[in-house]
Amino acid sequence: CGIVGYVGEPGSSERQYYALDVVLEGLRRLEYRGYDSAGVAVVADHRIGNRKKAGKVAALDAELEANPLPNAVLGIGHTRWATHGGPTDANAHPHVVDHGRLAVVHNGIIENFSELRSELGGKGYDFVSETDTEVAATLLADYYNNDADHDLSVAMRMTCQRLEGAFTLLAVHEEHEDRIVAARRNSPLVIGLGENENFLGSDVSGFIDYTKQAVEMGNDQMVTITAQDFEITDFEGNPAEGKPFEVKWDATQAEKGGFSSFMDKEIHDQPAAVRDTLLGRLDEKGRLTLDELHIDESVLRSVDKIVVIACGTAAYAGHVARYAIEHWCRIPTEVELAHEFRYRDPIVTEKTLVVALSQSGETMDTLMAIRHAREQGAKVIAICNTNGSSIPRESDASLYTHAGPEIAVASTKAFLAQITAAYLLGLYLAQLRGNMYSDEVIEILDELQKMPEKVQEVIDNEKQVQDLGTQMSDASSVLFLGRHVGFPVALEGALKLKEIAYIHAEGFAAGELKHGPIALIEEGQPVFVIVPSPRGRDSLHAKVVSNIQEIRARGAITIVIAEEGDEDVKQYANHIIYVPQAPSLMQPLLATVPLQVFACALAGAKGYDVDQPRNLAKSVTVE
Ligand code: G6P
Repeated sequence: CGIVGYVGEPGSSERQYYALDVVLEGLRRLEYRGYDSAGVAVVADHRIGNRKKAGKVAALDAELEANPLPNAVLGIGHTRWATHGGPTDANAHPHVVDHGRLAVVHNGIIENFSELRSELGGKGYDFVSETDTEVAATLLADYYNNDADHDLSVAMRMTCQRLEGAFTLLAVHEEHEDRIVAARRNSPLVIGLGENENFLGSDVSGFIDYTKQAVEMGNDQMVTITAQDFEITDFEGNPAEGKPFEVKWDATQAEKGGFSSFMDKEIHDQPAAVRDTLLGRLDEKGRLTLDELHIDESVLRSVDKIVVIACGTAAYAGHVARYAIEHWCRIPTEVELAHEFRYRDPIVTEKTLVVALSQSGETMDTLMAIRHAREQGAKVIAICNTNGSSIPRESDASLYTHAGPEIAVASTKAFLAQITAAYLLGLYLAQLRGNMYSDEVIEILDELQKMPEKVQEVIDNEKQVQDLGTQMSDASSVLFLGRHVGFPVALEGALKLKEIAYIHAEGFAAGELKHGPIALIEEGQPVFVIVPSPRGRDSLHAKVVSNIQEIRARGAITIVIAEEGDEDVKQYANHIIYVPQAPSLMQPLLATVPLQVFACALAGAKGYDVDQPRNLAKSVTVE
């Protein structure tokens, strides 16, 4: 879910009465975090006004048009990804309780909510929604009303002490027209600092239009913001320090910039995403310098196993990285979905290096896996795209991808940036541990530096793939085959199609085809095949070409992604998409791009919203 809060100064200027505009703008920017419903609450003349609607922020806009709210200096808003309770108007946030006096927005899941609900029910409270949020809000109201001073911060502190699970909570009360009280546990919240105005957001995009000065809060902390000030404490009331930082992204980076969708734009951002991720990490002689990786070299030298953990697209980036890391470092490397890793009693020791990949830095499954690994003594390096987010904060060291804000729910540029950063880490380890000479490392880095240009070449040829996507918009199933690093690329290609085009899609290791999946092939079945370079070792090229023949013989329509100059494969392809020549390990940075373009075009042709596909959220902050 996405959360925004705003407090301005009464009477200081016209601008300060625009709480609703600020909150709505923030919600639009945070909408990628969830779009099952949206809602706002403002406090004006000691009364709470609130509007909420199932659906996207646009539905809320229409509601506000029909039923306007008064000008206000104080407001909170929420855009929801449904967990407890369906995506209805009643279940939308804010939840206003206590006879309209208190409004609360919440992200996360309160695990002991049914117990609290019966406790509060016993005290005579009624509930109108099915949500855990209403329970938290009611508990807060109960503490507030029983507090002699009617201190909202004290009531919030008491509430937080009772809540189990994960939450970001923002509360406003009609008796306090100057403040928002907020709290967080295992769920994101940042503070934005303005002049005579302050902000809260699930991430900085919630206030990026208004200020670049932000403050990071620790876990299990709460904050009270007014127009002039903010005060952070822990849940016991002890003062705590926030960590100030400056936002590097600007608002235009988070705009579509003339593209039809954010996804389309982000596909086109990919050369820059790779280039920027390499930036500052190579010295003038082309040598690798990862000074930012604050982790003891002796620890990295003693590592005897690497476990890469991630979810979704990031996990496929991890699979790609594994081929490179094992090859370069000769350290056994596993890749595992974070939620599976966390709950299967994995073997982790002080010599295990965990590499956590995450675009948002807030994926709860990944965060929980990190905590578990660290409890067993492992060191964790985060590869992340979001500064100040929870995952890097809770890791031993971080390596940031510099992909810029990724807004479309289906990940594209973060994937390429994650592979790039993971490769840098692999090379760094190989160099440090003496598995590679610095000359070899420099050679590979040199190849990596050529990749942005090559990615651009693939994008320049996107028209052919877009046409194919449009033509195939009636397909009911698409398969993807690859070997070696082409295998995770196939998985990622299938995921893109599932996510945004709602088509059944599967990725397979091409070698596995004959062991089962080939039974799926029938006349007209579209199959993408990622073909390794004919210049590569191990005759993998020939093996994949045979696989293509096997499926062709059974009626498949083959869409082949091959390296420029690979003439042999052409005769077996119904459609051929050439990508520039590159070393095998670099091929995923190129071969993935047409698959993204294909999914985007196909979903667009079906008339779907490619940026906000149904049922999904970009940043999943629940387990
Ligand atoms: C969600 C998104 C995916 C993303 C995954 C991991 O499921 O819908 O697109 O790949 O989370 O996100 P992360 O932010 O950890 O990379």
